[in-house]
Amino acid sequence: MANFKAIILAAGKGVRMNSDLPKVLHAVCGKPMIDYVIDAVRSLGSFKIYVVLGHQSEAVKQHLGKDIEAVIQKKLLGTADAIRSAQHHFKGFRGDVLVVCGDTPLLKAETLKALVKAHRASKAACTFLTAEADNPFGYGRVIRDGEGDVTAICEEKDLTEDQKDIREINVGTYCFKSEDLFGVVKAIKLNKKKNEFYLTDIIDMLAKEGKKIRTLKAQGLAEGLGINTREDLSRAGAVLRKRILKKFMNEGVTIIDPETTYIDCNVKIGRDTVIFPCTMIEGDVVIGKKCLIGPFCHLRPGARIGNTVEVRNFTEVSRATIGDNCFMKHFSFVGDAVIGKRVNIGAGVVTANFDGKQKNFTQIADDAFIGSDSILVAPLKIGKKAITAAGCVVTKNSKVPAGSIVMGVPAKINSRRKLR
Ligand code: UD1
Ligand code: MG
Repeated sequence: MANFKAIILAAGKGVRMNSDLPKVLHAVCGKPMIDYVIDAVRSLGSFKIYVVLGHQSEAVKQHLGKDIEAVIQKKLLGTADAIRSAQHHFKGFRGDVLVVCGDTPLLKAETLKALVKAHRASKAACTFLTAEADNPFGYGRVIRDGEGDVTAICEEKDLTEDQKDIREINVGTYCFKSEDLFGVVKAIKLNKKKNEFYLTDIIDMLAKEGKKIRTLKAQGLAEGLGINTREDLSRAGAVLRKRILKKFMNEGVTIIDPETTYIDCNVKIGRDTVIFPCTMIEGDVVIGKKCLIGPFCHLRPGARIGNTVEVRNFTEVSRATIGDNCFMKHFSFVGDAVIGKRVNIGAGVVTANFDGKQKNFTQIADDAFIGSDSILVAPLKIGKKAITAAGCVVTKNSKVPAGSIVMGVPAKINSRRKLR
């Protein structure tokens, strides 16, 4: 996009999170909140994106993509000071500047697009997003005159009793003409109550200069929520979870009980798969078509489930591939493993993948039958069509060739199956 740049504000300490982790790195549905903001901004097109960092800047910087430029705010003196820290990158720049807070992960790309479009069409000095909030406490309130024109944004601590009832809040997402932003931001004065320079003071200053200010409404706090506390974090999780489940349902996945189903944002699920209640699917999991998952199933990062697979009651899969047409129906753990096709994993099967020092790998070939309560001590390879009898313990590195039947503790080869 020509004559366009973005600044994401992410230097704040996030004091109200009460955490060692920088606020913007806290995850919502499996992704750090700042990544949602960056993805939404990136979706507008190709242009320079600056992220202002301060508190634990190195940790956040390491996390950013190469196309993002980190700008350091030396002292955390508020959102206006954060903008000033990025000012040197805008020398000679004439265009529009999108400013977004790194703690508003629910913002939709389409709303950002609409904001930029409205801003460019109206040629306003500033167009910013507002939202109607049932409980506006803590947000900057949008102050309008008798005509409905915006005259200021007032922060919670500076509100009069009457203004506290205003439900239209500032989302913290603005589109500025660069000359208006940088022309005025340097004159913002310190707010003595908080010892910070408020970016929101710019609205009153631009309005007093007679500049045009426009707003666009976001879809309430379901889009405009700013995450300042752990409670906000869980609220954002609830909203995003609903969006994720809706997307899957639209794509042909049955979710029996959305209230108890937790699916992260990067999960992929094929059509006609059914997810039963009390299921958690975390990280980069991929599930094929026509699977039955849960109830009470935990699929963890690295789980790859083929087509027509059943992973059902009280099961856990972690960093493991399960091939097409496998069954794993009752209370089992499969971790650090590759399982072929048509394998039956009986009730209570465990891949003992951790030896106290490291994770070890289990390989199970096609058509194997893993009997109930088999303990498979990794590293281990189980051949095609092999059978492990109920209750056996297959010790590490033991040989289970194709078609063999092993039983006992420790498991020994007892007989062989015909291999066709
Ligand atoms: C801010 C707005 C408020 C708005 C709300 C929306 C101001 C003064 N207030 O309040 O009107 O309703 O967002 O969520 O802007 N940051 C920096 N450097 C700083 C301070 C903050 O980069 O020195 C960053 C933070 O990392 C954060 C963002 O700016 O991503 C907003 O800061 P935060 O402290 O969360 O402001 P709010 O109190 O939420
Ligand atoms: Mg905030």
